[in-house]
Amino acid sequence: MDTRPIGIFDSGLGGLTAVRALVREAPWESFVYLGDTANAPYGDKTRPELTALSGHNIRFLRSRDVKAVLVACNTSTANAMDAMVREAGGLPVVGVIRAAARAAAELAGSGRIAVMATAATVRSGAYERAIRELLPEAEVLAVACPELVPLVESGRTDPADPALGRAAEEYAGPIRAFGADTVILGCTHYPIVREAIEAALGPGMALVDSGAASVGTLLAALEARNALGDKKSAGTRQFFCSARREAFARHGTTFLGWPVENVTEIDIERY
Ligand code: DGL
Repeated sequence: MDTRPIGIFDSGLGGLTAVRALVREAPWESFVYLGDTANAPYGDKTRPELTALSGHNIRFLRSRDVKAVLVACNTSTANAMDAMVREAGGLPVVGVIRAAARAAAELAGSGRIAVMATAATVRSGAYERAIRELLPEAEVLAVACPELVPLVESGRTDPADPALGRAAEEYAGPIRAFGADTVILGCTHYPIVREAIEAALGPGMALVDSGAASVGTLLAALEARNALGDKKSAGTRQFFCSARREAFARHGTTFLGWPVENVTEIDIERY
């Protein structure tokens, strides 16, 4: 047993989609969550920039004595995984892409899988590689959706918001034309606006939530190391962000449906 917290990070609110799944599946686990809101969005950054930002996040989480790191950010997973593993000094580091690819491969009937993701994730080709390892014949269409993260971070998640509807429609068009039967929400922010995305995609497509998919992999990794927490007690929850603390708490509370309290703002550059 290991009762130390799990470290989870994202560029902002998106990783809360993994938190939601973790709290549902393993309520006894404690966690430390970091939203690097000072540097969001990550999706328009270069690989060297993402490597540097991800390194700060790992060093911060290590300073909180975590037992493992869940990289609840597709963009960091796609662009900086090797550097993060080095930075983590032997701690297990679980990303979101393999788990989401596996979930999609299980669902995909026709073998046509679309990936909605940030520009930096699409550019990396990480999803195509992960899916083809499992389904060599799969046809994959990756669509960059740059407007969604800024909308989510500014709290514009109402499916009736015209800007959200327009953006979702723009990204859904090529996916419908491609004839996908499975769509990976390959950015952890997107399940927060799932309703708008589903409405734009139309019926008949199975959606994969990359943050939620990764939680099973994380728990299996902990179990294999005999490092799950104490199932008889409730886990503790700590939240940190690197800017706009009040907005993070407010929007996080709206999404999770339980209070995101005592959020601490940190200077991430110091780590
Ligand atoms: N939520 C993150 C991801 O899964 C980062 C999005 C962003 O900051 O652009 O890719």
